[in-house]
Amino acid sequence: MKSILITGGCGFIGSNFIHYIIDHNQDLRVTNLDAVTYAGNEANLENIKTNPNYHFIKGDICDQELVRKIFVENDIDTVVHFAAETHVDRSILNPLEFLHTNVYGTGVLLEAAREHWQKNPTGEHRFHHISTDEVFGSLMPNDSAFNESTPYSPNSPYSASKAASDHLVRSYFHTYQLPITISNCTNNYGPYQFPEKLIPLFISNAIHGLPLPVYGDGKQIRDWVYVEDHCEGIYQILSKGKVGETYGIGGNNQPTNLEIILEITSLLDEILPQSPHKPHAQLIQYVKDRPGHDRRYAMNISKINRELGWTPKESLNSGLRKTVEWYIHNANWVENINKNKEFNHFLQTNYSNR
Ligand code: NAD
Ligand code: DAU
Repeated sequence: MKSILITGGCGFIGSNFIHYIIDHNQDLRVTNLDAVTYAGNEANLENIKTNPNYHFIKGDICDQELVRKIFVENDIDTVVHFAAETHVDRSILNPLEFLHTNVYGTGVLLEAAREHWQKNPTGEHRFHHISTDEVFGSLMPNDSAFNESTPYSPNSPYSASKAASDHLVRSYFHTYQLPITISNCTNNYGPYQFPEKLIPLFISNAIHGLPLPVYGDGKQIRDWVYVEDHCEGIYQILSKGKVGETYGIGGNNQPTNLEIILEITSLLDEILPQSPHKPHAQLIQYVKDRPGHDRRYAMNISKINRELGWTPKESLNSGLRKTVEWYIHNANWVENINKNKEFNHFLQTNYSNR
């Protein structure tokens, strides 16, 4: 691995991964291709932009000419593909954008990799595709956790588009022997997550005394992994993972949404004892459920643990405390996003009349 292309590196997990990989591999040339959509933020990489090994290209993964040129000019040998439309609620409002970026964009990257690596067959190559546990659908309370052989059963336009992209990646391995790996990860949380997702939205709203809109009964279950643990898992797959394989990644926990929300509000009560909004749990409001809302996700992580020795280091308690503290200490980062017109329009569309 000498020259890596990271797509979506200005987003939440992508920017955490760039921080991680630059700290762990000083010899690597890192090219970040990101269209800087509403979810992308160059400020996430402020302290890296002058690093001579880091190179940022503002552009779209669906732009075939640009993507081809990037492979040739940088002699890319490794791809970690994060770029995607990622918010389930937005996929319900605007599914076609998800189809375009998540499926067609992945196809463009696969084609560019195939072309460049066929012409330059020497050396090791890898296309690592970042996917989600949502492709497996929803679990009943007593079902076993998802694993790498669980049949796909996506329920939202977002998860269906991610499922389609997984299939496409897999097909390039079988048809063209493109050296791919895939990881299906559970819900991430931590620094730099865009405040449309549950944890950063609720921290930000609670700090400002705004309602905390719980969808349905709040008893849905997710498996939460701290973003740095996810980054380490990806790095292990790049270093030791077997080509053609899929790896499940998760945090080994299954709280209900309400349990997560109450943990956040009690951390805020403790860290901000002078807050006029204390107790922050009084801000909870039950609202109309998300259409097609998946009830439960959980991931069996024994394969990546057994084969690559990876296990999550952060507990949910310690990770949530770090996350709440990060959002309090980086209030300007959140405020800049909260001022964004597009984001306010989305909040209005998604939450008014709910
Ligand atoms: P995010 O929404 O925070 O960031 C997405 C990034 O992709 C942004 O920087 C955006 O500008 C960029 N992007 C979007 N469309 C693009 C395009 N056409 N061309 C170039 N760049 C484009 O996303 P995230 O939460 O960091 O998720 C990253 C990846 O991880 C996604 O593939 C997602 O499906 C997957 N994933 C996320 C989670 C999670 O909990 N957040 C869990 C499992 C898997
Ligand atoms: O499971 C991995 C997936 O996790 C990723 O692939 C997605 O990109 C990521 O967005 C996330 O999807 P979720 O739909 O699980 O995440 P979200 O933060 O949107 O919601 C988490 C739970 O909280 C879900 O049950 C819906 C609920 N929720 C969310 C919001 C934004 C609420 O009750 N109220 C809200 O306002």
